[in-house]
Amino acid sequence: MASSLLRTTPAVRAGLRAVSKPAVAMASTSFVRGKATLPDLPYDYGALEPAISGKIMELHHSKHHQTYVNGFNAAVEALSEAQAKNDSKAAAAQAPALNFHGGGHINHSLFWENLAPNGKGGGGEPAGKLSTAITEDFGSFDNLKKQTNAALAGIQGSGWAWLVKDKTSGTLSVVTRPNQDPITGNLEPLLGIDAWEHAYYLQYENRKVEYFSAIWDVINWGTVAKRFEK
Ligand SMILES: [Fe+2]
Repeated sequence: MASSLLRTTPAVRAGLRAVSKPAVAMASTSFVRGKATLPDLPYDYGALEPAISGKIMELHHSKHHQTYVNGFNAAVEALSEAQAKNDSKAAAAQAPALNFHGGGHINHSLFWENLAPNGKGGGGEPAGKLSTAITEDFGSFDNLKKQTNAALAGIQGSGWAWLVKDKTSGTLSVVTRPNQDPITGNLEPLLGIDAWEHAYYLQYENRKVEYFSAIWDVINWGTVAKRFEK
């Protein structure tokens, strides 16, 4: 059954939630299908300068993210074909691609929403309940930034740092994930920062600490607060 296989794969579950076109039920089967698509950015590619250059944003969104979208759709299609043939081995073989490309699509979709032009929703400090929670769990907003930057600097190879909320306790913490592994399980991702070289190298070269410092100027705390309060 397609549905039981999909239920067992967190990346697929999350990926299908991220599918931006309405799912269409096939008339001949109960299989629900949809294609993931590249989301539009709510700002221009150059709007995050000088923190992130327009060229990086253009490549990152239109090329890198598009590749994850394409890879995820291809893996979902391959999974579907394997299921149609009752080929469990071929279906299971799609797991790495589903996790990588599905995670890449999910993570970048969250990332674009986490950013906004400085002074137009980006930068500054969190407010309201989110601010209170950050003070309770990190001591101060500055400590949150320090912990996040330390986590980002400690990533070996490619990965992400995330501010997450424990769904049971509501507690905030900073975690890292390698490659494109998405945040799953009992953690709700509130804010993700992409530490892949493709996110900064064209502008910052090997000075990734400068990128990690500058990105706070374009963090959209309104989006983070909405995710925190939902
Ligand atoms: Fe990226």
